[in-house]
Amino acid sequence: MHEHLEDKHGREVSYMRISVTDRCNLRCTYCAGEGLEFIPHPRILRYEEIMDFIGMARNLGVQKIRFTGGEPFVRKGFGDFMIRAAERFADMDLCVTTNATLIGPDVDRLAAAGIKRVNISLDTLQADKFVTITGRDHFAVVRENIDRCLAANMTVKVNAVAMKGVNDNEVGDFIEFARTHPLDLRFIEFMPVGTETGWDDSRVWTAAEILADARAFAELTPVVKSGERRHGPARMYDIKGGLGRIGLISPYSDHFCSTCNRLRITSDGNLRTCLFSDKVYRLRPALRHAKLGLEQVEKIIRLAGKNKPIGNELLRRMRASDHGVCKTRMASIGG
Ligand code: GTP
Ligand code: 5AD
Ligand code: SF4
Repeated sequence: MHEHLEDKHGREVSYMRISVTDRCNLRCTYCAGEGLEFIPHPRILRYEEIMDFIGMARNLGVQKIRFTGGEPFVRKGFGDFMIRAAERFADMDLCVTTNATLIGPDVDRLAAAGIKRVNISLDTLQADKFVTITGRDHFAVVRENIDRCLAANMTVKVNAVAMKGVNDNEVGDFIEFARTHPLDLRFIEFMPVGTETGWDDSRVWTAAEILADARAFAELTPVVKSGERRHGPARMYDIKGGLGRIGLISPYSDHFCSTCNRLRITSDGNLRTCLFSDKVYRLRPALRHAKLGLEQVEKIIRLAGKNKPIGNELLRRMRASDHGVCKTRMASIGG
């Protein structure tokens, strides 16, 4: 029986996001753009160290692990690693967030290993706009890989960062996409995370605006949250006559901090207790320090988890002062 970690605000910590690399084969404007510096390899957690983190998380009562990047599949051996992790932690829910450019060859074996939930980032349904947003011409392969994941019976969520002047003219096409495919299409409000991301208040297409725009194209009924899903950040809507659903993630206009259940491990082994805070707990040196056992590292995670902040307070305080709530690049935090 594992313990349950509850923070000072009464929130149960049951979800850990682990970034396996800060590298990515795309250059999304809002994430990082071109001209990046990556974390040198020796500072990146080794796969065995990531396994250690999953084990510690399980001891603390975490049930769900989401692997993120950068783009997780750019890291050599990531597919094999996920399969090994699924075997070793069969009692946990392991899932991945990816840009779906490279997952294709791994889809069937991941599904066979029990990895059934994949979140895919795709901000446009237009091939030419895809190039403008990501700097790379990979739209066709992403679309193909979404179909491949669906064919393998995976639960697919597509994340679209909602940006005024970029994809706010595509709401009808997105609704049609979700109506005709059995997946959740979720719009995420553009967040002020990182620097030089082109973020500006005027670019934020808010959840309320998206919903109003979407209602012009379809009859939408709110889905009532229950069980584990109550922790998820998305508000979901059924589309009348549709196979899929649409959802709104509103970290900017209406934060979901009161039910936040997550911790984040960056690819270089820093623990972050809130996406909007630059405060980190440097766990890699502790993990690699021969004299410190895993119990000591676990203890640090427990203490840090207890002190998880309320992110929207940070957001409010910093909104007026400058452009970045948190200066760290999204790709190195893992979203
Ligand atoms: P599931 O609910 O398991 O599907 O996963 P998820 O929605 O937590 O994961 P995903 O990687 O698809 O994240 C969706 C978006 O929501 C990403 O842009 C995240 O950055 C954002 N998000 C998720 N959790 C938080 C959070 O705690 N705070 C903020 N501000 N944004 C979050
Ligand atoms: N605001 C909102 N979402 C973002 N993502 C990356 N940067 C931002 C941002 N500034 C999204 C990615 C991915 C998820 C993990 O985070 O598109 O779907
Ligand atoms: Fe890569 Fe995701 Fe960042 Fe785009 S948002 S550059 S896919 S890490």
